[in-house]
Amino acid sequence: MKKELKEIQITDYGYSGEGVGRIDGKVCFVNNALKNEKLLVSIIKENSSYMKGEIVQILQNSPDREKPPCKYFGHCGGCSYQHLSYEKELEIKKEILRARLSKIGYNNQINLIPNPNPYNYRNKIKLFVCDNKIGLKKRESSVIVDIDKCLLVDNLINNAIEKIRHFVEQNNKLVENIVLRQENSQILINFILKKDVKLDYSSLCQSLGDNFGILQTYKGKIKHIFGLNSLKVNEMGLLAEFNVDSFHQVNNFLTKDLFLKVIENIKGDRVINCYSGAGILSGILAKSCEKVVGIELGLSEHKDAEKLKRINNLLNLTNICGDCALKLTSVQGDFNTIIVDPPRAGLDKKVVDAIINCKRCERMIYISCDSSTLTRDLNILKKCFSMKEVYLFDMFSRTSEFETLVILDRIKT
Ligand SMILES: C[S@@+](CC[C@H](N)C(=O)[O-])C[C@H]1O[C@@H](n2cnc3c(N)ncnc32)[C@H](O)[C@@H]1O
Repeated sequence: MKKELKEIQITDYGYSGEGVGRIDGKVCFVNNALKNEKLLVSIIKENSSYMKGEIVQILQNSPDREKPPCKYFGHCGGCSYQHLSYEKELEIKKEILRARLSKIGYNNQINLIPNPNPYNYRNKIKLFVCDNKIGLKKRESSVIVDIDKCLLVDNLINNAIEKIRHFVEQNNKLVENIVLRQENSQILINFILKKDVKLDYSSLCQSLGDNFGILQTYKGKIKHIFGLNSLKVNEMGLLAEFNVDSFHQVNNFLTKDLFLKVIENIKGDRVINCYSGAGILSGILAKSCEKVVGIELGLSEHKDAEKLKRINNLLNLTNICGDCALKLTSVQGDFNTIIVDPPRAGLDKKVVDAIINCKRCERMIYISCDSSTLTRDLNILKKCFSMKEVYLFDMFSRTSEFETLVILDRIKT
């Protein structure tokens, strides 16, 4: 069916950084469109409240438009902002956060922490494999865009992608995904398989040099095949090891600054760290606080956090494995600061209630990778907490995402 073509004037940006305008009075979102541009778009989706358009032709360019450095930009769904300068991207992200916060009555100044390296900053990528294609998916689609490298990841990962290609071509019916993770000069490659078979990795191993590890996973069960089995880290004076499937912050350059800002804002010396991951932040806090409790659902992360506790001899750190919604009420006790760093879904209602009822907790630090669920939660918390400071850490440059750090103080009654 021939798609309908329409003209549109872009007047604003949406919450994901897409251009927004109106066609016959109805809101239309257009990916990779810039404010003040006039475009010819094809309508790819329409419902009663909005439309989505795809650029067919730029009729009037914005002076902000730049040539994207990546040849896959616009096809691959990974990046949203390579068509404009990094400074403009930061302005848009700051405006998105400002608009969201002001909707719930917060008008604090937003402290912006840019990424010192807007490219080659990621230590992890998950690639999809199908019919000899290795790559990332198109936005809102299951179509794989074949890539030879990704400009967002560390070059060690890109070198490995180049070497993996031949191996995957030989085994493409068996491999579903490939996860590559890097830490300094170490690299782990995890092949997620469609069948429970052992592949022949010998020539791949020969081509990869040293300081790498190969693992394969079938139905969630990870098997170590060759070389490194985990990534060793020395972060802020702590020794740690991460399993290939444990959560770790993906930005090689801003994570330390994010953690330092958290530490700077701790009140008192008894801290609960909810959604604590592999325990790095809990471990750093345990060095200066009297008592730290970390709560984490993932078993792999919990095991890493326990190892970190053991290696660094942190006797004042307790790692609890479980759902924060169930565990927080039983441990909240007399803690002064609660930190939360939930996944995109934000806080469970039970977690919000437990924090509100934890009357001794004077300070809350909320780290969020989704400003929509963050503002949903802050809107409930605002009856008990006032906002002291807000920081936008640009941990995911060139993509539509960013990290927000909010410092909240309990309102004295
Ligand atoms: C955004 S990560 C933050 C990790 C950690 N704060 C860090 O900086 O490395 C969110 C973590 O929450 C964990 N998680 C998800 N749902 C959870 C739940 N209901 N209760 C506890 N932890 C959960 C995930 O496994 C993940 O490790």
